[in-house]
Amino acid sequence: MAKILILYYSRTDNTRQMAEAVAEGARQAGVETTVSDVENCALEQLLEYDGIIAGSPTYYGIVAGALKDFFDRSVKYHGKLEGKVGGAFSSSGVLGGGNETTVLSILQIMLVHGMVVQGQSKGNHYGVVAVKAPDESARQECRLLGQRVAQLAAKLFG
Ligand SMILES: Cc1cc2nc3c(=O)[nH]c(=O)nc-3n(C[C@H](O)[C@H](O)[C@H](O)COP(=O)(O)O)c2cc1C
Repeated sequence: MAKILILYYSRTDNTRQMAEAVAEGARQAGVETTVSDVENCALEQLLEYDGIIAGSPTYYGIVAGALKDFFDRSVKYHGKLEGKVGGAFSSSGVLGGGNETTVLSILQIMLVHGMVVQGQSKGNHYGVVAVKAPDESARQECRLLGQRVAQLAAKLFG
């Protein structure tokens, strides 16, 4: 069974709420799903999963330092994440505050790792964004992201 890690950083809970909704979608798709705060995630865990979906608050239009630091340290496993499935989500304080650029900054990191990222033709194209705490529409997008990454990981890894 494919395994998905949902990794997030959240200081005031908004991104964590998104992570839980992403996990709901992944679980509904029938894959083994773990949700972890980046501060309690060992770097080696990256190796154990077929899919990694990462979420961050928008800080100055990009990924927050704590998650960036985790990924900077992931250089230890550079080359070992090739072909894993990726996805991203972000909560910002305001509309137009950079949540999409934050999603893209996370996806860039994943692409440099050689990971596979699937876009979405409807709804949120790059990953999921929310302003502050996710409303029901953003939660639904989160569930869909979890489901799509899980389904792709299941196709690729069984
Ligand atoms: C250091 C810092 C930088 C921030 N930068 C932005 C920003 O560039 N654009 C924005 O819309 N919100 C910004 N915010 C607001 C957060 O993105 C927003 O409150 C988010 O929902 C917090 O997520 P969390 O509850 O998961 O910590 C910033 C907040 C902090 C603390």
